[in-house]
Amino acid sequence: MSEAAGWTEGEIVALKARGEPAFLVPLSHGPTRIHDRGVIDLSAQIGRPPGETIEWLGTRYKVVRPSPADRIAGIKRGAQIVTPKDAAQIVFLAAVTPGAHVAEAGSGSGALTIALACAVGTEGHVTSFDRRTDFLDAARANVARAGLESRVTFRERDVAQDGIDLTGVDSIVLDLANPWDVLASAHRALAVGGYAATYTPTYNQLERAVGAFRSVGFDEVRAVEVIERGLSVSEGATRPAFEMLGHTGFLAVGRRVD
Ligand SMILES: C[S@@+](CC[C@H](N)C(=O)[O-])C[C@H]1O[C@@H](n2cnc3c(N)ncnc32)[C@H](O)[C@@H]1O
Repeated sequence: MSEAAGWTEGEIVALKARGEPAFLVPLSHGPTRIHDRGVIDLSAQIGRPPGETIEWLGTRYKVVRPSPADRIAGIKRGAQIVTPKDAAQIVFLAAVTPGAHVAEAGSGSGALTIALACAVGTEGHVTSFDRRTDFLDAARANVARAGLESRVTFRERDVAQDGIDLTGVDSIVLDLANPWDVLASAHRALAVGGYAATYTPTYNQLERAVGAFRSVGFDEVRAVEVIERGLSVSEGATRPAFEMLGHTGFLAVGRRVD
């Protein structure tokens, strides 16, 4: 929806109180039960523009458009998820842009799926493969909860065994243990000029993945690790945060040029 347009029924909105994390609510006519919080009726917001104030259970909330972080924050986790710092870098390195068709495997908990679906926008699409029904169900539920189900097609498929049966895809993202078994079919599935990215937790997997990128014929092959350090900011005492996420995963990327 544009800035000026009103909310439509069925849309997912975020309720944001100052100092509190936002939480997501589907806009519907009549009362809606929000897990662990109670019942809310947002009927009056349908047709209203974003940014209005409501009061619920003694707290004032702004009704705002959910950010990608809001959409990912509340997901139910089964598989290990891609962290926001890595998801952001994947979106950039794999050139996931508005209107793009992106394929990913595996779906897992759907955290990366949500980041990809936000990046492709209303005109783009994500095809998300997983070989396990339980993960597909979990990812589908998380993506629906985030209000992005119209942008994602989930498919049960073992992409290492059966390949990616798509063509002309703009970007492919592989978050599974053996991406080297998928990169040849990923190369065939990509449009010329498109990027594939892999996300693996160990150096050994990274080395094998990069070897496969090269042997399959990808160009612009490179690997990065994203290290994020929070900062504690207060006047006269600004310093790095004491705690940081020590290790998540390594990214590798390559581009199809022929
Ligand atoms: C680490 S999880 C993915 C997490 C996901 N990116 C997220 O952010 O929530 C890995 C997923 O890959 C799936 N998987 C592993 N090998 C696969 C294959 N050959 N084909 C399709 N899915 C596969 C697993 O079932 C699992 O759900």
